[in-house]
Amino acid sequence: MCCSLSGASHPPHRKLYRLSELHMKHKRLMALVAACATMAIVPFISSRNVHGQSRSESTNESSTQSAAGPIYNPYPQGILPSNIDSEIQRVRREENAIEEEAFDASQALTPPTVTGNPPIQQNTGTAAVETLGKLMNFDEHISVNQNIACSFCHMPYAGYSGPIPSVNLSMVAYPGSVHFRAGKRTAQRYTYAPFFPVLQFNAEQGAFFGGNFWDSRATGYLIRSADAEQAQFPPVDPLEMGMPDTACIVFRLSKAKYRPLFEQVWGAGSFDISWPADTAQICSTPNGASQFGGSATPVHLSPEDRTRSNTVYNEWGLSIDAFEQSVTVSAFSSKFDAYLKGKYVMTADEMAGYNLFRGKGNCNSCHLDGRSTAPTPPPPDGTSPNSEDTGVAASTTPLFTCFGSANLGLPKNPSVAFYSETTPDGVGLTPNPEGFAFTDNGLGTFLRSGFGSAPNPNATWRQFAAASDGKMQTSTARNVALTPRKCPTTEAPGPYFQKEFFHNGYIKSLKQLVHFYNTRDVFAADVESGNCPKGTVEKVNCWPRPEVPQNVDMTTGNLHLTDQEENQIVKFLETLSDGFTRPYPDIDTFTGACMTGGDASTQGNALIIPAALMRR
Ligand code: HEC
Ligand code: HEC
Repeated sequence: MCCSLSGASHPPHRKLYRLSELHMKHKRLMALVAACATMAIVPFISSRNVHGQSRSESTNESSTQSAAGPIYNPYPQGILPSNIDSEIQRVRREENAIEEEAFDASQALTPPTVTGNPPIQQNTGTAAVETLGKLMNFDEHISVNQNIACSFCHMPYAGYSGPIPSVNLSMVAYPGSVHFRAGKRTAQRYTYAPFFPVLQFNAEQGAFFGGNFWDSRATGYLIRSADAEQAQFPPVDPLEMGMPDTACIVFRLSKAKYRPLFEQVWGAGSFDISWPADTAQICSTPNGASQFGGSATPVHLSPEDRTRSNTVYNEWGLSIDAFEQSVTVSAFSSKFDAYLKGKYVMTADEMAGYNLFRGKGNCNSCHLDGRSTAPTPPPPDGTSPNSEDTGVAASTTPLFTCFGSANLGLPKNPSVAFYSETTPDGVGLTPNPEGFAFTDNGLGTFLRSGFGSAPNPNATWRQFAAASDGKMQTSTARNVALTPRKCPTTEAPGPYFQKEFFHNGYIKSLKQLVHFYNTRDVFAADVESGNCPKGTVEKVNCWPRPEVPQNVDMTTGNLHLTDQEENQIVKFLETLSDGFTRPYPDIDTFTGACMTGGDASTQGNALIIPAALMRR
């Protein structure tokens, strides 16, 4: 079982981590841990830092010393990948190159003709606002230390999800602008996110539909677009882009080189705001700094200027939404789209997978594919594969989500960075005082305006909090398998691109994902991650208990799929990747390394951090 990083872009002197070695090292260490409870584990992580704040050894200025002070590294070994500095620099190079290209494209745009009543930007209005959104998405200046853009956590070649394989394998959440603050969930793909409606409670179904984010907290209540409101969160999220005030984004936009395009799209007077003399300085101080005393508006604007700033911030969200909704991002260009149009014939395995997806697997009861669902009961009552739906698809652009939420019963993932962030950073922010005791209740936490979410704008929803605990939004299954073309799969032995799946990144391959749905209840073990009984293998024949035991969805968990049927569903999921009928824009911008070796069933298992170690 050999599993190592391969690829050309690593400088030869750099020590690569070989997962086989690490696995052995890890095993030896686990023996040590058993012998000595105070020992920290060292899977594939460098030996430079153990606990507390400390400096990176990297020579790169921006990552050793942010404007705000020293590096924040509260992580036990095993969480921050050893190649984090070089990977951050890689993604920054990639996103800056895309930004340059987008800027050139914007320069080449013929300005639209404003005509009609209401006035419409005729001919190139669509291109103008979508290009503006793209420029914003890849712009590093919208973060407090001007070092990460939105795209830092959402790159095209990962279906606009997380671009760093070693982060996907370890800390789950991505480091923010203040290194190395990090959040608690996986960076969602934002392809098709704009198609989620404004959050609504459906009284007949007794369920919520819509919103953006895993916990639906970007509701769209005000500007009536969940996705545009979503784009207003990360810039001021202390663990992401880290700006202290939404006005800071407006301030930085007023200095952007694409400001003329913004004014062309949204109006000439957009930035007529008188900025206080200390604005630049405030805007380069991270959100959460004790000096702000918790204020969300440390930039002191006149009431008129604050309103103008808020308007520009709405337009920021709407422009980003325009980009994400455009065919550049939400492309409907997969094999499956071609199949629906009669232009692609699925292979036998893909077709079998599709029939399982909408039959025995019952997947399309939540991931709607525009057809009916007809699950057979488990044997001996039912048969498999079940009867086939021969009707014409009711939707030619199915989104593979119902926009609702469910608690799938995922185990807690001790590797999530957030659990370790229990000490104050250089400016006085303690991201997670609760440590490993923090429970991610998803939608339930949002409804009660709880820690780790956002205020709930609708008091009538509060009563549904307990019934929503543990629920996360049903992601679209589209693009879940999208990878850079040079690493054409998510599955070991590859060459593969390591992604992470579900809200807490617990699952590391699509094989594991389908196996989880298939066997969660068959191999349920009353243990925590890293603690499966002797003789069992976690994620193969041992599933640790759910993080949130309430409200677990029971329509999956014991599907009676064979090993081959699981593989066929994976094959079907792979038909949902954009870029088949025409090239997916910016897909070939990945300059990192593919991985090879190992087995999809146990991919990432060598790096599991036992929950017990997090409680020390
Ligand atoms: C540091 C990493 C990071 C940065 C930077 C970041 N995101 Fe995200 N993004 C995430 C994570 C993590 C989630 C899921 C968060 C949650 O549910 O709590 C997410 C979720 C989303 C979603 C929700 C998708 C859905 O289906 O609901 C969209 C859209 C999105 N991000 C767009 C953006 C935009 C636009 C920006 C820049 C303004 C941005 N992100 C910056 C990490 C990041
Ligand atoms: C009861 C509703 C429900 C059913 C049935 C269901 N899913 Fe899901 N699916 C979800 C939810 C909810 C999530 C997000 C859960 C989370 O991250 O906690 C999700 C996420 C996913 C994702 C995206 C993961 C990611 O990281 O973006 C894929 C792919 C997926 N499901 C495939 C399937 C397949 C295949 C089946 C059938 C074997 C299936 N689902 C059955 C609700 C469902």
